[in-house]
Amino acid sequence: MIEQKPCYILAIESSCDDTAAAVLKNDIVLSNSIANQSIHEAYGGVVPELASRAHQQNIVPVVDQAIKKAGISKQDLSAIAYTRGPGLLGSLLVGTSFAKSLSMGLSIPLIEVNHLQGHLLSHFIDDGNPNPQFPFLGITVSGGHTQIVKVTNHFDMEEIGRTLDDAIGEAFDKCGKVLGLGYPAGPHIDRLAKEGNAKAFHFPIPKVSGLDVSYSGFKTAVINFLHKNTQKNDAFIKENLADLCASIQHTLIEIIFTKITKAVELTGITEIAIGGGVSANSGLRNKLQETAKENGWTVHIPPFAFTTDNAAMIGIVGYLKYRQESYGTLDQSATARLPI
Ligand code: KG4
Ligand code: ZN
Repeated sequence: MIEQKPCYILAIESSCDDTAAAVLKNDIVLSNSIANQSIHEAYGGVVPELASRAHQQNIVPVVDQAIKKAGISKQDLSAIAYTRGPGLLGSLLVGTSFAKSLSMGLSIPLIEVNHLQGHLLSHFIDDGNPNPQFPFLGITVSGGHTQIVKVTNHFDMEEIGRTLDDAIGEAFDKCGKVLGLGYPAGPHIDRLAKEGNAKAFHFPIPKVSGLDVSYSGFKTAVINFLHKNTQKNDAFIKENLADLCASIQHTLIEIIFTKITKAVELTGITEIAIGGGVSANSGLRNKLQETAKENGWTVHIPPFAFTTDNAAMIGIVGYLKYRQESYGTLDQSATARLPI
């Protein structure tokens, strides 16, 4: 293990529709830059070809900005960490080839990072909050994934529950689309839900065995419910928007929450860390904090900057791997599917 000379990690994240770069000094984030791709809003979802093209345009300025904001120069960098997968292949390829070229140009190590590990290990960034203690239950709730993971050590992770179909963020976005909200709809639903009554409309919780969850049946139930009611009253959505958002959000959270509670019962682990875009949701954050108080759980909730996709979370994994001299190689290719 390399001991404690400060290292500077440049991290690059391009797995979906955000081009992001960050610089870390050990476990401290010096800069965390991001270029969101607004082009997808018009389509109500990410268009892979457009995402890849936008990454190509964004990557040089975003990396430049991250290095400048960190107050260092390229020559100070100790290693380059990049997201190898999972994600959209065309998007991953941009970050992967950029990271490889720069590591070759600067003759410094290249470190491959699993995006899903990034979401959970973002809790080890030195941001003033206590680190999770091992073992803990990592709950990844994002636009592409919904997982319950037993984390025994930084790189010893076991998926013990997952979605059988759609991810929770995808369900937020798809329900939001039928409500006429912009993409991504999760933050809009979150905002509107604050003014609504979560008990106004009842949607069933699907019965799925074990620690797995399902979101696609719920989405269909919402679409059918809205279709039936707008046939009777054109203005149904407009007149009930806040209540609809509150009821939908409540059910989406209940579905995963039931399984988090079950995972605690089955494993006896009461240390919980959430990650991914949906961990920005105020309903989920409040529910976790309240339950933690009632049941004596220790809950770790990331700062907002580290919830949705960002490069700082890739940087912390890079730092943890750098300490172990766990370097990647140039022949490792980007991969759309990569288990945690
Ligand atoms: O982690 P992320 O940026 O990308 C993936 O790796 O998938 O997550 C994006 C997802 C989107 O589905 C978005 O609607 C959701 O996170 N999201 C939210 C909130 N903020 C982002 N969902 C609910 N409430 C929020 N406040
Ligand atoms: Zn993500």
